[in-house]
Amino acid sequence: MYEGKSEKIIKEWWDSASEYYQKEISADKMTDVQYGPFGSNEGKLRLLGKIKGKKVLELGCGGGQVSIALTKKGAVCTGIDISHKQIEFARKNAKKEGVNVEFIELPFSKINKLKPGKFDIVISIMAIQYCTDLNALLKNVRDLLVKNGIFVFSIEHPFYLLMDPNDMKIKESYFDSGLKIKKEKWPDKSIHYFAYYERKISDIVNSIIESGLNLERIIEPLDSKDKIWGTGYRRALVNKIAPTIIFKCRK
Ligand SMILES: C[S@@+](CC[C@H](N)C(=O)[O-])C[C@H]1O[C@@H](n2cnc3c(N)ncnc32)[C@H](O)[C@@H]1O
Repeated sequence: MYEGKSEKIIKEWWDSASEYYQKEISADKMTDVQYGPFGSNEGKLRLLGKIKGKKVLELGCGGGQVSIALTKKGAVCTGIDISHKQIEFARKNAKKEGVNVEFIELPFSKINKLKPGKFDIVISIMAIQYCTDLNALLKNVRDLLVKNGIFVFSIEHPFYLLMDPNDMKIKESYFDSGLKIKKEKWPDKSIHYFAYYERKISDIVNSIIESGLNLERIIEPLDSKDKIWGTGYRRALVNKIAPTIIFKCRK
């Protein structure tokens, strides 16, 4: 089912962290797309165009907040996520909000298994940093999009990840990209492994070019307030390097 050891580690971490994570971002009113920490929202950035009647696929949907917000604006949404727990939250949230969204437990590496029905928009918020094979994912996204379809994704800004938020010094090399696995001890003393991929901007842009998608814009937003994700981010560092970067592509 999963691609290599890292996808399994990532799934295990998100299943374990899901409850805490959903509590942390429960301030989300599920009325707009929030692009990430201090990363602004669709209401301001207008990256997706007209939403009403559009078929949307969300990759790494977590608790489904983005798909639910877009469904309220008239889209027909499918959300996929590797984590069973996150998908459970997404289904509960959709029920609570009274909207109909298809949520499927599926890893990025298997999105080619989705029915060939094409999507007008593919969106992913703060999830693609967990993708093991970016080239394969982008090619699958291209195949799943209609002609002129839009793919918008946000990730943590690669520059932001290099800085130590305590002394604001560079703690890692930008060139040391690839899989990172961090051992964590949680307050209940349980041990967990947090895995993600650091990629250089050139790696990401070149993968987009190789996939056949056209890169239309890169956005590095800095919103003044962040009620949803803000607590884990140090304002002094946020003011120097926005923690979120957004890529807008078109087929
Ligand atoms: C930071 S959360 C973002 C969730 C959601 N997009 C949001 O805005 O709240 C990252 C999500 O990506 C999912 N994810 C990580 N690796 C994945 C993979 N290989 N395939 C599908 N989903 C994945 C996680 O389970 C988690 O729900």
